[in-house]
Parts: sequence; C-alpha cells; structure tokens
Amino acid sequence: MKDKREFYSRPEITNAYDQQRFGGRSGARVGEREIELALALLPGNGKILDLACGTGRLTRALLNEGRSVVALDYSTPMAVKTASSGASTVIADAFSTPFPSASFQAVVSLRFAFHCPDLRPLLREMQRLAVAGGHLVFDTYSWSPRANWAIAPGQWGSRVYRHSPSSIHSLADQMGLTVEQAEPCFLFSPYLYRLVPFPVEQAFEALENHVPASWMCRVFWKLRSGS
Ligand SMILES: C[S@@+](CC[C@H](N)C(=O)[O-])C[C@H]1O[C@@H](n2cnc3c(N)ncnc32)[C@H](O)[C@@H]1O
Repeated sequence: MKDKREFYSRPEITNAYDQQRFGGRSGARVGEREIELALALLPGNGKILDLACGTGRLTRALLNEGRSVVALDYSTPMAVKTASSGASTVIADAFSTPFPSASFQAVVSLRFAFHCPDLRPLLREMQRLAVAGGHLVFDTYSWSPRANWAIAPGQWGSRVYRHSPSSIHSLADQMGLTVEQAEPCFLFSPYLYRLVPFPVEQAFEALENHVPASWMCRVFWKLRSGS
C-alpha cells in the first residue's frame, strides 16, 4: 500500500483525479451511481467516517444530506480538497487511525479496498472504529484486468486486487462480521463507462439488468459489526 500512498500524494494525480474518473456526462453518471450505492447502504443516522476520502466526493454528498461526517486520507493534497467542503478532515493512515474505538455509527471506504491485497487489516480497523451493531461499507472488484497487470501505471498507479464474493463472506465469518447486503454493479471497468458517449453508457447500464449478477465486476458491501 505504500506505493498507493505516495501515488495519491502527487499533486498532478490529485488534480486530475475527479476529471479522469468522473468527468463528462458519462463519468458524472459513474460517480453518481457509486455515491447513490454508498448512501443507500449507509445507516440513516449517527456519525460517519469516510475512510480514504480522496477529493471528498462522498463526504460532500453526506454533508448535503445533513449527515455528521469525518473524513480521513493519507494524502495531504487529497485531504485539502476534502477539507474545502467544511468537513472535519484528518490526515492519517487508514490502517492505524487516531480515533478511539467505537467512535462511529458507520465507516465507509469507497474505491479503497481493492488497493489492499489482504482485506483483513482494513476491515479490522473499520471494525474497531464502528460501534457494536454499526456498519462497514466498502466496495471490491470481483474481476478486473488491472488485477493482472498495471495498466498505464503513471496515470492509474500500480495494480489493483480482486476479492471474490465468497472470500468476503468467509472473512466476515472469521471476523465476527455479518454480511447484510452485497450489491453487484458495473459489467466492466467504470472507466470504460466513463469513456463512452452517454447513450452507450446508458446501454451498458440497461444491459446489467439482463445478465447474471455474477458477471458484474464490482460489489458494494454492507457488513454489520458485533451484535
Ligand atoms: C482511489 S482513491 C479513492 C478516494 C475516494 N474514496 C473516492 O472514492 O473517490 C484512494 C484514496 O486512498 C488514499 N490512501 C491510499 N493509501 C492510504 C492509507 N494507507 N491511508 C489513508 N489513505 C490512503 C489515497 O490518498 C486516495 O485518496
């Protein structure tokens, strides 16, 4: 993960982040879908931690909903962008955060888990930070060409990691977490959705309703901590 911390701390990467992934009409739709999925999985009340918040797109959406949110990122340029939303923003390592245990009703980490070869350290810290009965929300890749080789590493960073749905279920069991919801989405890399003209993006979305859920490349997870 050290290389990812360094990669996302480069100002040129931070400055290009939103446009590269969520620019244009199709990219905006990708961003909107991800935020909608995350918001739908989060509980309706209590303080939320946006772990590895990046430029703060989810933090902003939560603030717009009137939610109490704290944001954390390792990268200073990323954290500065999030702090401009007015949210309380902390610069720290997601795997050893400065917060006391049971500080949050929910901990959400978007587009971060797939940078972790082993999810256990991340889920352990998220579990520590959530109250008993609180929630952990994150997303994984079930498959991605970037799990096999780093595509344009100067632009995208090194490779990502696949986590099969069955591996998440068994990890949750081992850690005393309960899988409450799993939402498969995107037939292939969201970047392809972002690149194509909007009508094609819409056709991709429509197609998702006609193929088995197991074909989707991403899964958004909602796990419950403790009793
Ligand atoms: C792909 S971005 C996702 C950002 C945001 N959650 C989103 O969905 O747009 C990954 C983020 O993780 C942050 N990051 C990487 N390693 C980290 C670590 N060990 N602790 C905290 N943040 C980290 C990077 O600085 C970057 O902002």
